[in-house]
Amino acid sequence: MKIVRRIDELALVGEIGLVPTMGALHAGHRSLFRAARKENDVVVASLFVNPAQFDEQSDLAAYPRDEAADAAIADSEGVDILFAPPPEELYPPGFGTWIEPGETGAEGLARPGHFRGVATVCVKLFNIVRPRRAYFGQKDAQQAAVLRRVVRDLNMPPAIRVLPTIRDDHGLALSSRNVRLTADERARALALPRALHAAVASDDPVATATAHLRDLAPDYVEVVDLGGARVLAAAVRVGAVRLIDNVVLEGALQ
Ligand code: PAJ
Repeated sequence: MKIVRRIDELALVGEIGLVPTMGALHAGHRSLFRAARKENDVVVASLFVNPAQFDEQSDLAAYPRDEAADAAIADSEGVDILFAPPPEELYPPGFGTWIEPGETGAEGLARPGHFRGVATVCVKLFNIVRPRRAYFGQKDAQQAAVLRRVVRDLNMPPAIRVLPTIRDDHGLALSSRNVRLTADERARALALPRALHAAVASDDPVATATAHLRDLAPDYVEVVDLGGARVLAAAVRVGAVRLIDNVVLEGALQ
């Protein structure tokens, strides 16, 4: 695997699969690398903690970073190129053009500016890497929905592939932020996947999940349309950590 830091050092030929990440890689990212490895000639993973999508500066500062560990994981899953640019490579002095997605649901309302930062960096990565397919996790369902709309609205080539959420043995969705949970908080966090699971078969999934989550005071519980699928999504705060999760209500992810 080659680590590339400069855009002009990316010499790519063939059918390319791109997996955008912010590092702190875990089994959720691994599943995206594997899917990309199966379907493309060349697999590019990006490793970039995108300052533009952090609405809280404390969250950006606390974001876990370990490039050596990430490179070992990406390499072991068959990634060909790890694109790990410094911030000024993607946001040079004078940068001033943004992708402003339209309505972005409750997650967008809860995090002003977040999806503008996500959409902008992903469009930049699509233009830099020119992938045939780009891979995202269902874990961030609203993000996948936003990116599907951006490529459709702007007639951009990549197919947006969405892969199922990878969970730990207790059902908690893997997240880079989970390392910041204490043992007690981790136990309390399990109420989130349990509430979503309990809501799937109910007549009113939003009301059922909301009732189950009353002790965690959810930011929101809402239904997100992912094109082929509808998912029930929720966000909660456990201590200082904000967690999101969702389950498929109907349809299938492609
Ligand atoms: P990051 O949080 O590193 O996630 C990278 C990709 O991994 C996203 O598509 C996310 O949905 C997926 N992912 C995370 N946890 C997962 C899990 N438990 N199961 C399956 N997939 C999972 O999302 C971002 O980075 C950034 O917003 C990014 C798209 C890279 C733009 O900066």
